[in-house]
Amino acid sequence: MSKIPQSTIDEVLSRADIESVVGRYVSFTKRTGQNLFGLCPFHSEKTPSFSVNPHRGSFKCYGCQKYGNSIGFIMEIEKLSFPEAVKFLGDLYGVNVEWGEDDGGNGSDLKERKKRVMSILTDAAGFYYKALNSDAGKKARDYAASRKLTKETLIKFGIGYAPEGFDHLYRYLKNKGYNDDELKESGLFTISKKGTLIDLFRGRLIVPIFDAWGKIVAFGGRNLGPELPKYVNSPDSLVYKKQKHLYALNYAKKSKSKQLIIVEGYMDAIAIHQAGIDNAVAALGTAFTESQLHLASKYAEEVVFFFDSDGAGKAAALRATKMMLDYLRRMTGIKIRIKIASVPNGKDPDEYIKTNGAESFRSVVRSAKDVNDYLFARAYDDNYDQETALDLTRFQEDIITYGSWLYDPIKREKMAVQAAQYLNVRSETIVAAMDKAEKDTFDKNNEISRRSQEREDEKEVSERRVEAVNTPKADVVSRDEIELLVRAVRIGPVLADQSKIDRKDVLRKNDFQGENIREAVKFFLVHFDAKTGVSEGVLISKLSQLLFNGIKAEIFFDRVNSSLPQEANEDAEIAKYKQALYRVRIHACERGLMELGPLIIGASDPEEKERLMEKNAALEAYLQELQENLGKL
Ligand code: UTP
Ligand code: MN
Repeated sequence: MSKIPQSTIDEVLSRADIESVVGRYVSFTKRTGQNLFGLCPFHSEKTPSFSVNPHRGSFKCYGCQKYGNSIGFIMEIEKLSFPEAVKFLGDLYGVNVEWGEDDGGNGSDLKERKKRVMSILTDAAGFYYKALNSDAGKKARDYAASRKLTKETLIKFGIGYAPEGFDHLYRYLKNKGYNDDELKESGLFTISKKGTLIDLFRGRLIVPIFDAWGKIVAFGGRNLGPELPKYVNSPDSLVYKKQKHLYALNYAKKSKSKQLIIVEGYMDAIAIHQAGIDNAVAALGTAFTESQLHLASKYAEEVVFFFDSDGAGKAAALRATKMMLDYLRRMTGIKIRIKIASVPNGKDPDEYIKTNGAESFRSVVRSAKDVNDYLFARAYDDNYDQETALDLTRFQEDIITYGSWLYDPIKREKMAVQAAQYLNVRSETIVAAMDKAEKDTFDKNNEISRRSQEREDEKEVSERRVEAVNTPKADVVSRDEIELLVRAVRIGPVLADQSKIDRKDVLRKNDFQGENIREAVKFFLVHFDAKTGVSEGVLISKLSQLLFNGIKAEIFFDRVNSSLPQEANEDAEIAKYKQALYRVRIHACERGLMELGPLIIGASDPEEKERLMEKNAALEAYLQELQENLGKL
């Protein structure tokens, strides 16, 4: 278990105010009472259900039910563990976060282990680099030459060679004093059946993978011949999560360009840099991920994607486009333009730039399409056949699906206007169909999350055996509620004395949850006399006709009454009365909020939803006030 001192966590929470933390991802469109509202970054929606309460330092979504503080938000959105999220925020807000203390069993500590792994990787890079320039490296040098990699490029990108054989690197690193446990964590070895370590990279051209700060975190190895696998890459490790890196970002981030060119392979990125275009990065052999888009958005205003033009590449391009649109629709605080390019004749950028030169490649980049144009072209090209011409039915289906992905109404309309010429209908009709397809997807997603929420709830109920909050039985009553009634009876006439008790601090029937206790309170208020309070005897006889939590109200009342000692003086008695009152009202507010949540989710009419959210905000503000008042007592 990692340990971060509580004082550090508190410091991070106090500096990383929820409004600015969330504001990095979400743009707020509305302020109601204490709350800020925006579209939820965790699920797709059209009207804001996501709220942030800066006062309380918390966020909550009424749609998907996620809630928490700044640390919880970062864990969820950056997909980090608790200590990682604290560190992440600490870096942003200038708090030094020391973490990674292991349980001490073997005295090893995460930070130390990472340092050792980084050191192994650096030493390994040196080994590979020397090997490339040794006699044994001739084959690899020839291969690099055949790919037109210049001497400068080999140096700039730290390219090396992993010699044939099973343990060259292993022995080299052992001699440097690393032990097997550390070497296993580096990701540079596989383990044989006998349990010995075997070099992962053998007979390959080696490309070190740098993080954005230029530290080596992994390697890729290209086979020198046509044998498969073509590439071998480091697995994820303590210091490397391939889904979160962009190859060559350490160089591209220094570019003057506000644009990032994103290609699939690191060899493509290297070739582009070698040609003098310094804003290219590669996605490291994974489907492009949300984390990578987010990373790109920190350095660029526009991304231009190159996907391979074979079948697999095309499918990947559609998936990535949908993923990016979904992500940007949710992350209303992240602004980045997406464009999609492709090199002619099914070549990849590496081959293209070597044959046609940098200028020609630049013009391919300039001709990149906006997402709407790209998706339109896909709908057209994918359904066009020389013989049968355009398959209108499929074209229409694709257009409506792709249009529903476009959350920008202008892009959506542009696509509809283009398609209208082929489909022979008005563009409004197409837009309406796209809107409907979008709504259907939302409804389906909501239905799914509602159902899973219900299942969670059911689980919780059966596990904890709690009563459903929205079905209070008539006799339901809390101990606090009875105490409040007891205290009110005790202070008697003082309740009517406004110099001692403010009017708003007089108990009301609606402060209570169950019908029976409400009836008792109503009786109390009706029979209340400003001079004498209420006769306890009369009240008791009323209570004897009611049940509280399944037992006679009279007995319950008496039990609570006798468990509460008399206070020393009137002031102390009044203070106790108020405490009980605020506790009861706080619970009533909390119950109200819990009942509102599902109503807000379920509201399909935007105005109704708005009204409910305002009610919610008002209730939260009131709750806050009560908590403050209680704190002051
Ligand atoms: P490509 O097959 O397009 O490779 O895979 P490439 O970059 O054009 O490679 P060359 O030019 O033939 O050398 C694109 C990327 O997918 C990953 C690599 O990251 C590669 O750069 N990949 C591909 C693998 O991880 N393993 C493989 O076996 C193949
Ligand atoms: Mn290639």
